[in-house]
Amino acid sequence: MGGLFITFEGLDGSGKSTQLQRVAASLERRGVAHIVTREPGGTPFADLLRDLFLRREAAQVDGVVELMLVFASRRQHLIEVIEPAVADGSVVLCDRFTDSTYAYQGGGRGVPPEVIAQADRLATSCRAPDRTLFFELSPEEAQLRRRGAAADRIDRESLAFYRRVHEAYERRMAAEPERFRVIDAATPIDDVARAVEATLSDLLPAETPAGVEPGRKAVGP
Ligand SMILES: Nc1ncnc2c1ncn2[C@@H]1O[C@H](COP(=O)(O)OP(=O)(O)OP(=O)(O)O)[C@@H](O)[C@H]1O
Ligand SMILES: [Mg+2]
Repeated sequence: MGGLFITFEGLDGSGKSTQLQRVAASLERRGVAHIVTREPGGTPFADLLRDLFLRREAAQVDGVVELMLVFASRRQHLIEVIEPAVADGSVVLCDRFTDSTYAYQGGGRGVPPEVIAQADRLATSCRAPDRTLFFELSPEEAQLRRRGAAADRIDRESLAFYRRVHEAYERRMAAEPERFRVIDAATPIDDVARAVEATLSDLLPAETPAGVEPGRKAVGP
């Protein structure tokens, strides 16, 4: 199978990481070569940038500085990890990518989309994923799910911030409907997992029941 670049997007608490791990486990069972990675971060150096990004002091920085930090991390991640894995025929499952920048630094922080596009051209030549799953959950429900978990700098943002983030995601989806798939993230974890599997079935053939060879129909006893 050829390499694939699949990204997971949505508000904090929408279930991206939970579902990404499920997909990875399913690929593992099927022996499909894959890697799991995330943004910001994904390489030792990019993880250092992630730590900086999530520190309380970073709340003081200008939105464009924040933008440059995430694109610096992204470029290194793309060069060092994502592109080599895709070239090697692996499935890359990535928790957040450039859509998050449009959503958070754009919608959340008010950096104009044309400034983000400019930085994206420089950092990644506007590299788009092959497919992006958007985990749809209202800002209010996402906030409820985040309760109890250790909050980082972004998790502490206001509901108004998350509403702007959500709207910016909606603009991204409207602009590139062929790349996005919207997953209803408000249902129980197993139901969301089934929706994810169905949504990816054209790219990643579904798991066959144990003992049944691919391409052969299961027969009763
Ligand atoms: N479908 C679901 N129903 C109820 N709770 C869920 C569901 N999916 C995930 N959760 C729970 O919600 C919380 C957030 O999930 P998760 O960490 O996967 O979200 P995330 O999108 O990766 O968030 P972040 O952006 O903050 O990393 C976790 O406690 C998780 O167990
Ligand atoms: Mg997560």
